[in-house]
Amino acid sequence: MKPTSVARNVSMRSAALPVFRIGTSLGRMLRFTKYSLVLWIAIASCGGAETEAESGRSYVAYDFYYNEGVAMYLQEGWETCVKNLEMALKGWHWWHDNTASCRRNCSLEAEQKELLSANMSEEDRYFERALYSTHCLVRCKKNALGPQRDRVVESNVISEFNNRKPYDYLQLCYYRLGRVKDAANAAATVLAVQPNNTVMSNNLKFYMEQAGIKAADVVNLELKPYGQEYFKATLAYQDNNFGLTITLMEKSLRLFLEEYQTCRFLCENPFDQGWYPDFISSVANHFTFTLRCKRKCMWQLSELSGEVDDDFLPSFFDYLQYSYFQKEETAKACEAVATYLILKPGAEIQTHNKEFYLALDEVNEDMFVPRKEFVAFKEREDYEEELMEFIETNFAFLTDEFWDEEDDELKRLSGLGIRVVKAARKAEEGVDRVVADGLASTLECLVLTELTRLAAVEGDGYKGDFSPHTPSETFQGITLGRAGLMIHAGLIDKAALELILRVTDRCRDYVERHFHLPRQLYFAYTHLVCRTARPVHQVHVDNCILQDSGECLRVPPAYTYRDYSAILYLNEDFEGGELIFTRDRSGLTHELKVEPRCGRLVGFSSGPENPHGVLPVVEGTRCAVGLWFTQDRRHSEVERTMATLFLKKLNKDEL
Ligand SMILES: *[C@@H]1O[C@H](CO)[C@@H](O)[C@H](O)[C@H]1NC(C)=O
Ligand SMILES: *[C@@H]1O[C@H](CO)[C@@H](O)[C@H](O)[C@H]1NC(C)=O
Ligand SMILES: *[C@@H]1O[C@H](CO)[C@@H](O)[C@H](O)[C@H]1NC(C)=O
Repeated sequence: MKPTSVARNVSMRSAALPVFRIGTSLGRMLRFTKYSLVLWIAIASCGGAETEAESGRSYVAYDFYYNEGVAMYLQEGWETCVKNLEMALKGWHWWHDNTASCRRNCSLEAEQKELLSANMSEEDRYFERALYSTHCLVRCKKNALGPQRDRVVESNVISEFNNRKPYDYLQLCYYRLGRVKDAANAAATVLAVQPNNTVMSNNLKFYMEQAGIKAADVVNLELKPYGQEYFKATLAYQDNNFGLTITLMEKSLRLFLEEYQTCRFLCENPFDQGWYPDFISSVANHFTFTLRCKRKCMWQLSELSGEVDDDFLPSFFDYLQYSYFQKEETAKACEAVATYLILKPGAEIQTHNKEFYLALDEVNEDMFVPRKEFVAFKEREDYEEELMEFIETNFAFLTDEFWDEEDDELKRLSGLGIRVVKAARKAEEGVDRVVADGLASTLECLVLTELTRLAAVEGDGYKGDFSPHTPSETFQGITLGRAGLMIHAGLIDKAALELILRVTDRCRDYVERHFHLPRQLYFAYTHLVCRTARPVHQVHVDNCILQDSGECLRVPPAYTYRDYSAILYLNEDFEGGELIFTRDRSGLTHELKVEPRCGRLVGFSSGPENPHGVLPVVEGTRCAVGLWFTQDRRHSEVERTMATLFLKKLNKDEL
């Protein structure tokens, strides 16, 4: 009998024919909202290139480069696509390395600092350390990250980087530039986290055939050092080179622990509580946010070749026990078996191996002592798992109570005569939608309609070509900024602007309460618009670009930060103009049709779950207030802030 080991297949996958993910005619199909980013980046990279290199700092955040790279991809600017996406990836790594490094250094510094309060309670000491750590972090981040230290990157961009989406764009841009080897590596990098992406595996196969690249030469560009050593170790193992296997596995194991710690540090991110909890609740809340993230580190690091390997960490000790045994280092082999069994109690093969080793003359039970750091490791893993379970079971209930309080707010709003006509909730029907009446009085409707008609300037509101209105419609509208200018010019009274703000605030509050949103909604855009129309309409989604395939691309020029949308109708003396929710892009059939009438609000989540369109206005003019909301404060409407300040100033001047 011999100790056994599970052979592991770590080779690359392969597949069939070349297809590309996004039709390249898309660049021509889409026209772009003009934004000044191109210019800004151009300035930043001429003026800043040298100083950036000197100081090691980057002044342009990686998400800017990313958005720019994607825009260039869509416009088929292959060279600028590559340049921007490479900068984006570089910036991403740079940001992560420095952030993790600061957090690691400062945690260590605070740990070693002598406390004022040797005799104080554990809690006092904890917060004293937190202060030292913070003091250190502020300095470190300022020094290492410069102007980017407090940058908050949108969560969808973060998850796209984690899913290797930039490499998805890059592979095609490389290919178009004739850089087939780079294209193959980029495709392999995508496949390492998306093994079932058949388009990408077809592309990889195509690139490999075209350039005669061998599977062994294809590189996962995001493979971390511990992964590189792990692969080398498994190759040594397959060659029966056990001495080398031991060296490489031990090295990989050390690197793995470091990477694991880095992953945990990278979870200690800012968190928008969205409400105002008590001090301790706020700490607990933020702690939960980081814990949830940290619990994902193990599977993130266990995904070397596209599949999460549940036994990844134990597998080190499988290779090690067998290799140590082969090198006749029986004590080390026993230690490896014991460590395996700590990480995975009762594992069959290692239990069997232990029996095998025990049967040897020189082995006794006392030799099965697991490595100390892994005993501690496992203890923490189990503890956090338990804590997470407590959180999940006990706090769902608290959340319900929280909503009950919020319902009082809803009742208060109902006191205004608001009545829900029709509603659908995510949990029940898969979509967030509500139609409610009474959000504006007859008088308010009348004033706003007249104002919109009076102030209408053709084309205002939708800058550039990306407009929810169909090309064959004429539309007229006013924004808050224009309303401010009109007051300034003496065309309208400031009461009109106050009315717009009051009515739209009411709508925002209603949408927020109705959907029980845990995070505050900010206005992203407010637009009063009257439409007269010809018989065409267009089904679209508010925060992504709907494709014929049904896929919805969350890329610029779509307003990706929009989370909720609403329309408040102002009049009903026209025909047609109903809002429809439909999955049918022709708009011939629909799931829900809403008849406009004064004071009726339609609110819905802005994502692909709510494709919608407007039926043609057949006769007359339809006036409404279009409202888009975001949960990301950085995208809150500048015009609204300006309008509010302007009103404040006017009111002050009058005093
Ligand atoms: C963290 O400490 C190490 C070692 O002292 C140092 O080399 C590194 O630059 C520090 N990291 C940062 C971001 O300052
Ligand atoms: C800490 O407590 C010990 C024992 O109670 C006492 O002797 C010592 O003076 C205290 N130290 C300080 C700094 O208060
Ligand atoms: C990929 O497909 C396989 C087989 O169809 C499935 O078992 C696996 O869960 C899929 N993996 C991912 C990451 O979707």
